[in-house]
Amino acid sequence: MKTLVVFYSRTGRTRKAAEKLAELLGAETEELVEPGKDRGGAVGFMLAGRDAMLKRPVELAPVAKDPAAFDRVVLGSPVWAFTMCPAIRAYAAAHAGAIRTAAFFCTHGGGGPSKSFSQAEAVLGKPLIATLSLLDKAIDRGEVDADLAAFAKRLTG
Ligand SMILES: Cc1cc2nc3c(=O)[nH]c(=O)nc-3n(C[C@H](O)[C@H](O)[C@H](O)COP(=O)(O)O)c2cc1C
Repeated sequence: MKTLVVFYSRTGRTRKAAEKLAELLGAETEELVEPGKDRGGAVGFMLAGRDAMLKRPVELAPVAKDPAAFDRVVLGSPVWAFTMCPAIRAYAAAHAGAIRTAAFFCTHGGGGPSKSFSQAEAVLGKPLIATLSLLDKAIDRGEVDADLAAFAKRLTG
């Protein structure tokens, strides 16, 4: 079974989790990039929250991998304004028809993962086969390997 882990990361936590998950699954990865968007600093943070809250469409750099060539796609997003980030929303909307089976994980500071899951299902038009939320504190302490391994097992089992 071929798996693609697609993620967006502003400050590295989602990337760290996505790379570990890909290693556990023997999966390929695709990191989403928003060309010309500066999400850094206080202004970048505020505009990011606004874009997420208003579900603003964002432009993505062309992706390298065709999700239709994979048996399942795992989406990894930071929680922004209690929902998924705009880049993952844009990817899910653009590739919903090509994604056969989807799972979703999010990273967050302590609030709002469940809305990310329900909104991802709504955008994809299909149920997620597995979900996982990871707390910043746990990622920073290196305490999420067991959670990622259990998630990987749910995907492969
Ligand atoms: C604009 C913005 C909005 C955020 N909103 C939330 C939120 O609603 N709930 C939450 O728990 N964390 C929120 N966070 C924290 C991130 O979800 C969290 O730090 C995440 O791990 C960052 O992932 P990254 O390092 O891959 O960018 C927000 C962060 C940003 C930048």
